[in-house]
Amino acid sequence: MKSQALRDIATTLFGDNKGLLAMDESTPTCNKRFARLGIPQTEEARRAYRELIVTTPGLGECIGGAILYDETIRQHKKDGTPFVKVLIDAGIIPGIKVDIGAKELAGYPGEKVTEGLDGLRDRLAEYFGMGARFAKWRAVIAIGGDLPSRCCIAVNANALARYAALCQEAGLVPIVEPEVLMQGNHTIESCSEVTEKVLREVFCQIHLQGVVLEEMILKPNMVLPGSDCTSQPSVEEVADATVNALLRAVPAAVPAVAFLSGGQSAELATARLNAMSVRFKSRLPWAVAFSFARAIQQPALELWKGRDENVLAAQQALYHRARCNQTARRGEYSQEMEKV
Ligand code: 13P
Repeated sequence: MKSQALRDIATTLFGDNKGLLAMDESTPTCNKRFARLGIPQTEEARRAYRELIVTTPGLGECIGGAILYDETIRQHKKDGTPFVKVLIDAGIIPGIKVDIGAKELAGYPGEKVTEGLDGLRDRLAEYFGMGARFAKWRAVIAIGGDLPSRCCIAVNANALARYAALCQEAGLVPIVEPEVLMQGNHTIESCSEVTEKVLREVFCQIHLQGVVLEEMILKPNMVLPGSDCTSQPSVEEVADATVNALLRAVPAAVPAVAFLSGGQSAELATARLNAMSVRFKSRLPWAVAFSFARAIQQPALELWKGRDENVLAAQQALYHRARCNQTARRGEYSQEMEKV
């Protein structure tokens, strides 16, 4: 029964070419983004911003699930309605980030391991009781010099699989997010090699620990050169490098692959997703979708600036990005869509 429920959730999240909206920034990350725009870094400002997001008219047409943060899943609209209820009423499945962040990896300077396994079984039970039906755990892998180390890949893959097994036991679909970071001057070839190596290790641990492939979602990075690399490839080259790496390393039984945006501009992330749909449509064993935070939210956040009078314009910008990404899943996105 649990197994069928998990499969149904994984399918529903991406039905009608929908994708996920990541709004699970931790308090420090959210505050950092607010500070850059002169928005007060208070709990009320964060609540107001998240209310703007969850009440965006029509959002459920393009978004199948929203990833919340511990603070956010407990918050309400100003009128007292819980955010979880607002989402469910809009046809959006609530999800929850359950890792507690990437911490320095002892003995491996410059590398991190994601923490949060202690007490996770109890926390998952609580989130399930609050209405969450899927979860997220993000590991980060840096490229540069001798990095990543075998140790960094191994410990993060092990933790991702432990988290995923606990989620499935608790009735939550795990989103498994091993993010190879964009920071640095590495080439696209280097990112491709590291991404493939990381994914192989993740799926090795997933197999070892008995995680059911049909009941999980992969949230990978796109294969990109480092942000400081002098040679920047075309949209089509990124699409090809990304899908080819995934085809080599991601089992076909996984129902969906939903990309993170990782610091790409909103329009580029959409164009690259679109190119993957156009060029590989008939060859993709999994749904290829989006689970963006910055690439969906950033234009809206910049318009909002913490002011009530900007809420409508910000919501329109958020809806627009969600719609563009849904269109990209169909392979029908073009620059024209940005002109309206
Ligand atoms: P970005 O799309 O901003 O990379 O965020 C995705 C995410 O959920 C990071 O964990």
